[in-house]
Amino acid sequence: MQMRFLFFTFIYSSCAQQLLFPNDFKFGVATSSYQIEGGWNASGKGENIWDHMTHNNPKSIQDKSNGDIACDSYHLWKTDVQLLKNLGVHFYRFSLSWSRLLPNGLNNRINYDGVHYYNNLIDELLKYNIEPVVTLYHWDLPQGIQNIGGWPNIATADYFMDYAKVAFDLFGDRVKTWITFNEPIEICVSGYGGGDKAPRIIYPGISDYLCGKTILIAHAKVYHLYNNYYRAKQRGKIGITIDTAWNEPNDNTTLSKEASELSLQMQFGWWAHPIFSKNGDYPNVMKERIANISKLQNFKTSRLPNLINHEINYIKGTADFVGVNHYSTVLTSYQPLPKTIPVSFYNDLCVKSEVDPKWKPSAATWVKDVPWGLRKLLNWIKNEYSNPVTYVTENGYPDLGELNDVGRINYLQGYLKELLLAVVVDKCNVAAYTVWSLLDNMEWAEGYKLKFGLYNVNFSDPTRKRTAKSSVEFYKNIIKSRMIPFDNAEVYIL
Ligand code: BGC
Repeated sequence: MQMRFLFFTFIYSSCAQQLLFPNDFKFGVATSSYQIEGGWNASGKGENIWDHMTHNNPKSIQDKSNGDIACDSYHLWKTDVQLLKNLGVHFYRFSLSWSRLLPNGLNNRINYDGVHYYNNLIDELLKYNIEPVVTLYHWDLPQGIQNIGGWPNIATADYFMDYAKVAFDLFGDRVKTWITFNEPIEICVSGYGGGDKAPRIIYPGISDYLCGKTILIAHAKVYHLYNNYYRAKQRGKIGITIDTAWNEPNDNTTLSKEASELSLQMQFGWWAHPIFSKNGDYPNVMKERIANISKLQNFKTSRLPNLINHEINYIKGTADFVGVNHYSTVLTSYQPLPKTIPVSFYNDLCVKSEVDPKWKPSAATWVKDVPWGLRKLLNWIKNEYSNPVTYVTENGYPDLGELNDVGRINYLQGYLKELLLAVVVDKCNVAAYTVWSLLDNMEWAEGYKLKFGLYNVNFSDPTRKRTAKSSVEFYKNIIKSRMIPFDNAEVYIL
């Protein structure tokens, strides 16, 4: 249990000063193309790796479902914008489906129905003063690009840059906030390292690190492209979204503290250190650890592909903000390396992760309601990377779909309170917060069982009727008042 100190100046009471989010702080909600759009082969869209995997191997999804129709936002975008308007959000974070715009993934053929769809959505958002925040890549790689190797193939960085150029040309007059990648560790470790995400390539400890290098180079290429050719005219910002749980040391020992730092560095720092640190490159602890373990495994060089000086400088500083996706916390402690070490990212990391049985659960084993973890993570980022502009690009709570979603309200209230303390008391440079998600949607390998939406979607109804849950009113009030209804009066210092 952390120490709590009352911070008397800010004690919340009817007569005391109330903590408010700054006037220019922005609130939004997020979705992603594959999870909501449907229209998987509508008017010219090409196949992506999720279409391919779910159609060819339905068992890869727990309930054998797929995103063929999902929330049908491909047809219901106008309805979705009305839901956003009702919430009063400042921005809507959504992603572009690469294969809807470029069916083969390559820039020689643009699918104008796809262009039309995103133009409609963007224009409708702007009509209601809702800023479009666009993620270029939220996991739905065109299958054609996967067929030639996907992200572990360094050439994919160039195809991604070609695609980004098409997106800037088409939408950059109206889109002013771009996110290159959503959660690179998921793309690489879950997609190419033996996890449960498409394309499910199982070559752990090799293919995931190759993927990682391509992603870092691809991100930097797209940043430089924007910076050199679009920024002056379009005047937007570009960043990347990285995810991690907060790793709290399980006890006060140096070993546990080192283990939790290692875990943060290898999961968040893998991406953030090359881009946001002063010296660039992968975190030292990560480089040393993988080199040492590779040697023990009889590899002649480290399995982590080297970044040469030119690449380090090319990647360093390539973001206007860091996007942070955060859902939960784990307790981390030291774990000795086994005698024979199987080749994988998780064996390279090799720490023990547990949860406190007293933490409030959710419908997902990996999400516990531990609000103070968000504040600690934001402070860690502040100290590690000189307080960069930070957007919380995802935070949310899975349940089984109750309309009176008190679990979600409690979770959001707790996390927003800690965020407010991070902003006002700790001066973390956080400018935006995003709830995942606007709608219940296709939760990747978990199918449709887990629900993250503020709005319920009836997936057995062909019209995909949307219904507001109780959390809609809750979030709406927070956006309007910029204040968190603190139950308990204390404001504490970390
Ligand atoms: C992803 C979302 C996903 C959410 C809940 C995040 O990792 O960006 O696409 O639905 O977590 O699992």
